[in-house]
Amino acid sequence: MGRGWTRDNLRHAQAMLRYGRNPAATVYDSIGDDFFLALAPGWLNLGLWEGDGSDPREASLAVRRLVERLAADLPHGGDVLDVGNGLGEQDPVIAAVAAPRSLTALNITLSQLRAGRARLAEARARAVNADATRMPFRRDSFDGVICVEAAFHFPSRAAFFSEAFRVLRPGGVLAMSDVPVSRWPRGPREAVAALAMLRAWGLRRTAAASARDIAGLASAAGFVDARIELVGDRVIAPALRFVRGRLEHERETREASRSYVSAAGIMVAQADLLWERSMVDYLLLRVRKPLGPPVPDG
Ligand SMILES: C[S@@+](CC[C@H](N)C(=O)[O-])C[C@H]1O[C@@H](n2cnc3c(N)ncnc32)[C@H](O)[C@@H]1O
Repeated sequence: MGRGWTRDNLRHAQAMLRYGRNPAATVYDSIGDDFFLALAPGWLNLGLWEGDGSDPREASLAVRRLVERLAADLPHGGDVLDVGNGLGEQDPVIAAVAAPRSLTALNITLSQLRAGRARLAEARARAVNADATRMPFRRDSFDGVICVEAAFHFPSRAAFFSEAFRVLRPGGVLAMSDVPVSRWPRGPREAVAALAMLRAWGLRRTAAASARDIAGLASAAGFVDARIELVGDRVIAPALRFVRGRLEHERETREASRSYVSAAGIMVAQADLLWERSMVDYLLLRVRKPLGPPVPDG
């Protein structure tokens, strides 16, 4: 059966005109387990690639490598919180790398937590359906927080950093990836591309922040020892090349519906423009909560 529009896709397309209170959940309800542009089934990150994206076999390695790289910064054997865990593919990887005493996966999209149930069970992870900016945990609950490619969706990065700081124990680590925006659009083509991305992914204008702004928000929340890496050439460039190849293949084989492939092609072209014109990059950020006396709850 060829890939076509699902009822959730159509709801997503309709919602692009006017998102409700929870745009991320509308988007990710639509995407489901078999997202056409996903680099590998069940994975929603862009991957940390070896090579330029021309070898399709790299894709399933790249998505894991990105998570392994971030999870390597988590304290070993601690209580770990995974914020915005997607469909749960990353949780067994986090469990393997960080060998946590406990693993908690927090996601605002309930359908993803349900779809990822088996992978969460494999990782011995507890699922929590909640917002990253209002976490239902006591202060000093975790030794590590990991957040892979999700923070641009949050209603406020400042509120996320403040929550991550609150729930981490002193000395705890936050390891995350994000998509910083280095400049505002110049001219109509760039403006259309930027707007298309914001609408398609249900993002607020405040999602557009530079790497320096993002690191500044982390330090304003109290985090120290920031390590910042910009790796768009290992993430965005090869991922775009890979999906262009996938679209080419679909156009030739006609397995997916033509309108579906065209819509995906338009999205990829807009993302290409933002990358080619150096408007977006990919950030790996590791910060630490300073050691200090615990503050009583409440
Ligand atoms: C681009 S996906 C990344 C998923 C996964 N980390 C991965 O890399 O495959 C963004 C994830 O963030 C989640 N998310 C978006 N907004 C959220 C929020 N306010 N609180 C918690 N999770 C959120 C989405 O439901 C989705 O799972």
